[in-house]
Amino acid sequence: MKITVVGAGAVGATTADNLVRKNVAEEIILLDIKEGFAEGKAQDMMQTSALLGFDAKIKGVTNDYLATAGSTVAVITSGIPRKPGMTREELIGTNANIVKTVVENLIKHSPEIIILIVSNPMDTMTYLALKSSGLPKNRIIGMGGALDSARFKYQISDKLNASANDLNAIVIGGHGDTTMIPLIKHATWNSVPVADFLTEEEEQEIVKKTMVGGATLTALIGTSAWYAPGAAAAAMVESIVHNQNKLFTASVYLEGEYGQEDINIGVPVIINNKGWDRIVPMNLSAEEEELFKASADAVRKMNDVLYAEGVLKK
Ligand SMILES: NC(=O)c1ccc[n+]([C@@H]2O[C@H](COP(=O)([O-])OP(=O)(O)OC[C@H]3O[C@@H](n4cnc5c(N)ncnc54)[C@H](O)[C@@H]3O)[C@@H](O)[C@H]2O)c1
Repeated sequence: MKITVVGAGAVGATTADNLVRKNVAEEIILLDIKEGFAEGKAQDMMQTSALLGFDAKIKGVTNDYLATAGSTVAVITSGIPRKPGMTREELIGTNANIVKTVVENLIKHSPEIIILIVSNPMDTMTYLALKSSGLPKNRIIGMGGALDSARFKYQISDKLNASANDLNAIVIGGHGDTTMIPLIKHATWNSVPVADFLTEEEEQEIVKKTMVGGATLTALIGTSAWYAPGAAAAAMVESIVHNQNKLFTASVYLEGEYGQEDINIGVPVIINNKGWDRIVPMNLSAEEEELFKASADAVRKMNDVLYAEGVLKK
């Protein structure tokens, strides 16, 4: 079993590091366009194997797609990240061309591949990957909600002084500071609604902190975060490779589900060896439905840029 990670930067390298430590596949190919960069990162990680006890192999390559041939899954992290003050949406022009080319190259050598998109603006990049490749919809998955949901659980656990592992809480909608929807009213602490332990103000504080979670880190670090994004991508790959049927919020193509069509946006899905297998319906309140519709409108506006700039044709 081979997994490819495209982009050996902060998120790509962290994804590969998580995958190799857990022996998720025998071989991981780390590919970057920068000469020698992926090779160096891969060697550094391989030199931890005697310390951490893994047997999986990680190989770095410079833009060599032949080395990716026969990959079961690819994670695409190539592209530019946010700088302080930037939105994810401002990355669209540069990252669209990168993502489109990378997808073409991957499919050429691995026609059966399942592709996980991380590059931002992620919902739009996932839509682009699907539309430009013509792959079956279940084999193109966007990673954003898995990260946002983990950040949501972190904020709840911090407030309740509880283990994040005892929480059930998800974020749906677009992967943007203003488009994501942390579903606080559905969140539970070992089946008990977290609302039972929080005031309305505390709930709103958690929601707000979750929504600006990425921007908060970008301001502190100077570039976008990588530990949680890398861990989230690796967890989704593991669910594919080991056919775990885990539920994640992921950006998938909707054809009427959640009242939306012709869009990739975050909804709860089951992830297994088919890619995303099925969408899990939820009973949303009228207010949550309204937020989801507004979120979809914002994502669709971003997708329109792809058509306006000629990256995609109607
Ligand atoms: N979806 C999410 O939840 C999420 C979370 C964090 C970051 N991101 C996004 O992930 C992307 C990567 O972030 P990062 O912090 O790792 O950035 P980074 O700059 O550290 O790494 C990006 C890497 O991509 C490489 N690259 C550029 N063009 C390439 C190409 N054509 N082929 C192969 N490699 C190429 C660069 O050389 C660089 O090493 C950004 O778009 C960022 O916004 C998404």
